[in-house]
Amino acid sequence: MNIEDIAKKMCANGKGILAADESTGTIEKRFKSINVENLEINRLTFRQTLFNSSAMKDYIGGVILFDETIKQKTTLGPTIPELIQKQGAIPGIKVDKGVKPLAGSNEETVTEGLDGLRERLKEYYALGARFTKWRAVYKISDKYPSSQSIKSNAHALARYAALVQEAQMVPIVEPEVLMDGSHDIEKCYQVTTNVLNECYNELNIHKVNLKGTVLKPNMIIPGSKCKNECSSEEIAKRTLDCLKKNVPSEVPGIAFLSGGQSEIEASKNLNEINKINDTNFLITFSYGRGLQASALKEFGKNQKNIENIQKAFNHRARMNGLSSKGKWSENLEKETAA
Ligand code: 13P
Repeated sequence: MNIEDIAKKMCANGKGILAADESTGTIEKRFKSINVENLEINRLTFRQTLFNSSAMKDYIGGVILFDETIKQKTTLGPTIPELIQKQGAIPGIKVDKGVKPLAGSNEETVTEGLDGLRERLKEYYALGARFTKWRAVYKISDKYPSSQSIKSNAHALARYAALVQEAQMVPIVEPEVLMDGSHDIEKCYQVTTNVLNECYNELNIHKVNLKGTVLKPNMIIPGSKCKNECSSEEIAKRTLDCLKKNVPSEVPGIAFLSGGQSEIEASKNLNEINKINDTNFLITFSYGRGLQASALKEFGKNQKNIENIQKAFNHRARMNGLSSKGKWSENLEKETAA
């Protein structure tokens, strides 16, 4: 399959992306919250339980993995990438090496990982990966994000995307404007506009084929400490407006991060966006916490109760699958969860 077809397949037909690419440090935080020790076998058990769920076939087009996970063999027989392929989804891999302090702007970060990337990409392709992820992070405050942060992160994202396409894989371009802070929805709209513009400017300079990319943005949403609440309708309207104005129409798919929204909020907001989507973008989810929080809780209660863990995951995957078509409803959520 060529990269343009892969990009569409990742986001089409009521499917989205499962972001299971938590680094060892991030999964440690998640496991701590459920009192599970951060051992390789526990990471493998949780992830293979999700990837073996029945909802994978219907609602998951791609799975983003971490370096350790793509190299693991399941206790069920196949390797992790083989299990994902068997379920009809495409294996992907996070290739950035995380955020590091940005010299010259002490409170901000730049994402690193370009050194040796060409060689690592070859290895991941051989292991079965057909798409990749790189996440840039922007913090909102009175002073930030600075243009230094916006420019340096966009430059790195574009160099990453060009290398990934050279290796015949689809780059997920993830510029995440964080929800942290007390800023209002308007501020999020403005910052996201600047960030997206600079990203597409750099992607253009680096001759990236946008038809073979997927954008993974934040929704346009008030900061988590903002006093003014916003309805889902307003979030959807502002988000779609921002995407229409700042994302080139060649981009086939837009898969949102959940970014700290609750599972229900993430489903509800995605649903509202799709209800009013009058663009050609395939708009779906690429959720980490938004897909896994309930399943993780069940895993914390009893790691051996595969049925309950999968039930929780199947439900969230189905709800988000419905949201990607604008067919989710609160009633459906209550009925099926009961
Ligand atoms: P969340 O959906 O939990 O924000 O994670 C998505 C992701 O991949 C962040 O890089």
